[in-house]
Amino acid sequence: MTERIAPAGRLEGALRLPGDKSISHRYALLAAIAEGRSRIHNYSSGADCASTLACLRALGVGIERDGAEVAIHGCGLDGLKAPAGTLDAGNSGSTIRMLSGILAAQAFHSRITGDESLSRRPMDRIMRPLAGMGASISARDGRYPPLEIRPARLQAIDYTLPVASAQVKTCVLLAGLYAEGTTTVREPARTRDHTEIALREFGAEIDVRGRAIALRGRPRLAARDLAVPGDLSSAAFFLVAALLVPGSHLVLEHVGLNPTRSALLDFLVSMGADIRVPDLAFQAGEAVGAVGVRYSKVRGGVVEKDLTAALIDEIPVLAVLGAASEEGLTVRDAAELRVKETDRIATVAENLERMGVQVEVFPDGFRVRGGQRFRAAELDSFGDHRIAMAFAVAALAAEGESVIHGAEAASVSFPEFFRLLAALRAKT
Ligand code: S3P
Repeated sequence: MTERIAPAGRLEGALRLPGDKSISHRYALLAAIAEGRSRIHNYSSGADCASTLACLRALGVGIERDGAEVAIHGCGLDGLKAPAGTLDAGNSGSTIRMLSGILAAQAFHSRITGDESLSRRPMDRIMRPLAGMGASISARDGRYPPLEIRPARLQAIDYTLPVASAQVKTCVLLAGLYAEGTTTVREPARTRDHTEIALREFGAEIDVRGRAIALRGRPRLAARDLAVPGDLSSAAFFLVAALLVPGSHLVLEHVGLNPTRSALLDFLVSMGADIRVPDLAFQAGEAVGAVGVRYSKVRGGVVEKDLTAALIDEIPVLAVLGAASEEGLTVRDAAELRVKETDRIATVAENLERMGVQVEVFPDGFRVRGGQRFRAAELDSFGDHRIAMAFAVAALAAEGESVIHGAEAASVSFPEFFRLLAALRAKT
């Protein structure tokens, strides 16, 4: 699918975003192994979170879905059934990595794979700690999907993550639910803590001290009724759009503002963005609030060290803002970007260059000079949702109409994106 994006005069309005992708996956996985019927409101509309539900159904979990309302009949820690065929995680790294933590502890054999992009993403990062817990997993070339997971009984582990990854942390903690004793995960940098919060909500015993997370195995998880906050990583595209298009004013309602995710807002404010969060509430341990953004001239900045891990999903759209900023954007310590849905250092640089924006590429990041103009161009998502949306935003500030090929990729996390973007164009 191709989307044509004309330059925008001004963006204006208020909108509610679909449920957070990261939180939706976690609520679904925990509800499936809890006892009783959970209800999840505002479940992510993205294809990735539908992949998680499809895998859980294939494991014998009863699920009813009506749009963003999902009911999950949890079958308890030991109630999953052997799947009839290969489990399909689609494009979703979160699904394959997190679910594998549960599959590794089952008394049945399973096989899980994904689409072409997922089949090129490394899984050794979960295989290593799971093997340390006693799991028996093999993969193509020792590290790529499909994963063959054989029955095993797991032991608790004390594991230090070599790379800051919330998916790997979650995988080990979910496996730790099945092990006797206490499983501890130590992080090199703080990553999103939705799993820790959700585990507590479902009744697990979890103790967080600094960057060490300790979970007691074999808890009884109880069904919950939970609402998913709006997705801040989806909000990021509108925040940057408003900062790029003069005269814009947007209000994003009911957005998830968990401190392990909201570094984005602090970073934008540090660049000079006029962003306001008038109220903050807590919902099942997750911070939620409205975010107001007004067009502002932004200075630019540097993303490196721990900040890189905190902003990892927002870097493509921040690169776009960097080109329009006064001083530009430097991103370092971001080699992880090379193993996302695409090599995001390469795909960001390719699209920026097509728009006439100069970018210097490093093995672990890039530098975009500030004060550059976007030329209208033929752009490509390369099958990556965040690349499709980041460059739709860049196209709003271009000098003519741009084309995004493969725009349907946006539906992996945010199927409503192009419709909502069009609706925010001010009439006058
Ligand atoms: C996610 C963690 C991050 C992020 C991904 C979602 C999660 O991946 O990029 O979009 O929900 O835990 P890594 O764990 O690979 O850093």
